Amino acid sequence: MGQDALMEPLSSMVGIFLCKIYFLLIAGACSGLKVTVPSHTVHGIRGQALYLPVHYGFHTPASGIQIIWLFERSHTMPKYLLGSVNESVVPDLEYQHKFTMMPPNASLLINPLQFTDEGNYIVKVNIQGNGTLSSSQKIQVTVDDPVMKPVVQFHPPSGAVEYVGNITLTCQVEGGTRLVYQWRKNGKPVGINSNHSFSPQNNTLWIVPVTKEDTGNYSCLVSNPVSEVESDIIMPTIYYGPYGLQVNSDKGLKVGEVFTVDLGEAILFDCSADSYPPNTYSWIRRSDNTTYVIKHGPRLEVASEKVAQKTTDYVCCAYNNVTGRRDETHFTVIITSVGLEKLAQKGKSLSPLASITGISLFLIISMCLLFLWKKYQPYKAIRQKLEGRPESEYRKAQTFSGHEDALGDFGIYEFVAFPDASGISRMPSRSAPASDGVTGQDFHGTIYEVIQHIPAQQDNLE
Ligand SMILES: *[C@@H]1O[C@H](CO)[C@@H](O)[C@H](O)[C@H]1NC(C)=O
Ligand SMILES: *[C@@H]1O[C@H](CO)[C@@H](O)[C@H](O)[C@H]1NC(C)=O
Ligand SMILES: *[C@@H]1O[C@H](CO)[C@@H](O)[C@H](O)[C@H]1NC(C)=O
Ligand SMILES: *[C@@H]1O[C@H](CO)[C@@H](O)[C@H](O)[C@H]1NC(C)=O
Ligand SMILES: *[C@@H]1O[C@H](CO)[C@@H](O)[C@H](O)[C@H]1NC(C)=O
Ligand SMILES: *[C@@H]1O[C@H](CO)[C@@H](O)[C@H](O)[C@H]1NC(C)=O
Ligand SMILES: *[C@@H]1O[C@H](CO)[C@@H](O)[C@H](O)[C@H]1NC(C)=O
Ligand SMILES: *[C@@H]1O[C@H](CO)[C@@H](O)[C@H](O)[C@H]1NC(C)=O
Repeated sequence: MGQDALMEPLSSMVGIFLCKIYFLLIAGACSGLKVTVPSHTVHGIRGQALYLPVHYGFHTPASGIQIIWLFERSHTMPKYLLGSVNESVVPDLEYQHKFTMMPPNASLLINPLQFTDEGNYIVKVNIQGNGTLSSSQKIQVTVDDPVMKPVVQFHPPSGAVEYVGNITLTCQVEGGTRLVYQWRKNGKPVGINSNHSFSPQNNTLWIVPVTKEDTGNYSCLVSNPVSEVESDIIMPTIYYGPYGLQVNSDKGLKVGEVFTVDLGEAILFDCSADSYPPNTYSWIRRSDNTTYVIKHGPRLEVASEKVAQKTTDYVCCAYNNVTGRRDETHFTVIITSVGLEKLAQKGKSLSPLASITGISLFLIISMCLLFLWKKYQPYKAIRQKLEGRPESEYRKAQTFSGHEDALGDFGIYEFVAFPDASGISRMPSRSAPASDGVTGQDFHGTIYEVIQHIPAQQDNLE
């Protein structure tokens, strides 16, 4: 209870206090007068006119409008510049040629602007009506000379060898105030880095030591509140390399460090490495334990028919005569004959070869089968006929079967057909003389002999 009695007056006092602050803060707005400025900071160029725009508005009937401009610099008393009531201007006679105002327009024109004009400008507007309304604004003015074009120089002008030398870049500007320097490499700001350092003002950049990565287009961008100018691009000379030495060829198959070339083909090898200044290249051929320098320059042509060995080892050497560093790469050229190469290529796709083999085998087997069929088919016919004959005849025929093995041609059919009666008339005339001298019983056996053998053999039988 005692606490509440104590709290009530305290809270009301705090409330009144806050109300007063609030009233003070919004007094201008409540009264209906509002003064605004587009920017609280205005950057001016020395020697030129500077315009400080001000807007104001109010909602009460006014019997008079008063505008006052004051100027203040740090550590000095504020100075009266000029003022107006209604549309009549009352300047400070000391500055009357410098400041211009056209009331009721409250904007101020400063012409010409000098370095001494730098500071804060305060504008105060008073409205006379049912009481007096008042409001003010402050504008900070800076005065600068515009930046002239910077010039960048690098030292040493002859350039530097990477990891050995250092490069110093300096940015020089003839004119301008409040200069801010920024170093740019290939259009992007250069950051602080293990081998980059800057002078306190940033107008000097040290690269200690230089590396290949520092190669690029450098420029210096200088700015101040009223201007910004970039220097021309410079490219410090940085010697590096050789790096990434490799050999390539226009033709041939490259697998690792081995080139496979068709016999009879000329092949051009190209040796390249990243280096500044460009490398000098030399080519070395190795055979047995001896090496020969065969050419200088980045390219080597090998005519494979002139190569004595089928496999040859080569070395390409790259040398940077400024950094004093060298690199070399070894490679082997294997010369293959075209046929072997093609066969090797076909070997990769087995199916055509397999199918050709399959077809060939099939043809061979089927021809053999046909041959065998042709050969044994007649025997069946012969046997069928012979089974119907007397045993003696069968045996007789069998004795001659030995001869049939070597022949097995159509002559056999003539023999089979003969036992028919009609067969006699079909007998060729050449066999007729032989048939005359034999009996009907032996007839077919005799005829068989005649067909199987040429007439000269008949003597053997008879
Ligand atoms: C300003 O103008 C108003 C009317 O527009 C007039 O009543 C007032 O007297 C003038 N003030 C002065 C100082 O001339
Ligand atoms: C004040 O005058 C300037 C030119 O002198 C003009 O650009 C500006 O609009 C004027 N402001 C007002 C509020 O009339
Ligand atoms: C002037 O202000 C007083 C009190 O602030 C008010 O009573 C009076 O009506 C106002 N007059 C006009 C013309 O606005
Ligand atoms: C590069 O700078 C380093 C460190 O300041 C110094 O030791 C070295 O001698 C410099 N090299 C050249 C070539 O100036
Ligand atoms: C550097 O500048 C040159 C010409 O000024 C240009 O050809 C080259 O492409 C530039 N390099 C980079 C990395 O921007
Ligand atoms: C100098 O440049 C560096 C990197 O661009 C920056 O971080 C630093 O603020 C600059 N210093 C000055 C004084 O401009
Ligand atoms: C190559 O050198 C080795 C020893 O370095 C030797 O044993 C070999 O006989 C040499 N071969 C030829 C072909 O000279
Ligand atoms: C380095 O080699 C280049 C050719 O790539 C040549 O023009 C230059 O004179 C050589 N410099 C020295 C110091 O040998």
